[in-house]
Amino acid sequence: MKTKITELFNIEHPVIQGGMHYVGFAEMAAAVSNAGGLGIITGLTQKTPEDLAREIARCKEMTDKPFGVNLTFLPAFTAPDYPGYMKAIIEGGVKIVETAGRSPEAYMPYFKEAGIKVIHKCTSVRHALKAERIGCDAVSVDGFECGGHPGEDDIPNMILLPRAAEELSIPFVASGGIGNAQQLVAALAMGAEGINMGTRFIATKEAPVHENVKQAIVQASELDTRLVMRSLNNTERVLTNAAVERLVEKEAALGDKLKFEDIQEQVVGVYPKIMIDGEMDAGAFSCGMVAGLISDIPSCKDLVERIVNDAERIIHNRLAAFVSK
Ligand SMILES: Cc1cc2nc3c(=O)[nH]c(=O)nc-3n(C[C@H](O)[C@H](O)[C@H](O)COP(=O)(O)O)c2cc1C
Repeated sequence: MKTKITELFNIEHPVIQGGMHYVGFAEMAAAVSNAGGLGIITGLTQKTPEDLAREIARCKEMTDKPFGVNLTFLPAFTAPDYPGYMKAIIEGGVKIVETAGRSPEAYMPYFKEAGIKVIHKCTSVRHALKAERIGCDAVSVDGFECGGHPGEDDIPNMILLPRAAEELSIPFVASGGIGNAQQLVAALAMGAEGINMGTRFIATKEAPVHENVKQAIVQASELDTRLVMRSLNNTERVLTNAAVERLVEKEAALGDKLKFEDIQEQVVGVYPKIMIDGEMDAGAFSCGMVAGLISDIPSCKDLVERIVNDAERIIHNRLAAFVSK
């Protein structure tokens, strides 16, 4: 399948694996890139810029295909060493960066000077337009269904994608809630040039996370995610578990009086316990509603090929039949 996104990133299939904390290690990114998609290493999961430089080098040993690095600009008490991480990306020869969270405007000149293509992930048309204005090459339009941070507007992709298509000139991929071929076709029909998936890629053979995480996603239905931290203006969609239900109760009880310290136990430092140790009740971790559509743990290659091949079949057969005379 050829789209503006496959051309832009020089990849075979219009399928991107979004940055994921404690999932987007070299093994994940390389597996997706080797499958013909675009794999992405999560920059801030690496504790220092030196660690990121090593992770990039490791990924290069596992694939000779293009891959990217995610840089997330989220509110943090002490800002990470962003210039250091950027240096690791530039010196590592990475040519694609996925930015997310706050605007990457301050860093755009450095990316451009290094010949790096920037795809900014955002949850609203106004932020997508800002990304276009500041020189991003593409955007990942992340609907309300998504795992992780859906923003505060709550617009699902059925509305958000056609709205983005109305306004944007740069290409965009559909992100959030996507896991199968039907959804790729729908995304293309709504103006997207491809898809970005997070949760679906966690339930793959190569995802470097504990088997319990993969099984939890396979077992979960579309009803099993919760939105947390809304009153802190930092809404996150997570998979429910005992810790998340405690968190949700605390949020309901404290309302607008909730402070970050009240929920720290359920959200700080929990990713390694969940993703590496498989302690599924250790706290809140991002997961999308698409869990309800995930029922197997294929290799990345099988997954990407299934999505793209079935999408082509849907277009040629089911859709073409509606318009054929
Ligand atoms: C476990 C997990 C961790 C994530 N961590 C990040 C992150 O660190 N930075 C980021 O930009 N997006 C992060 N995301 C969001 C994904 O990149 C992607 O946008 C999202 O998962 C798409 O929605 P989906 O899960 O419905 O496919 C994360 C998602 C998941 C599921």
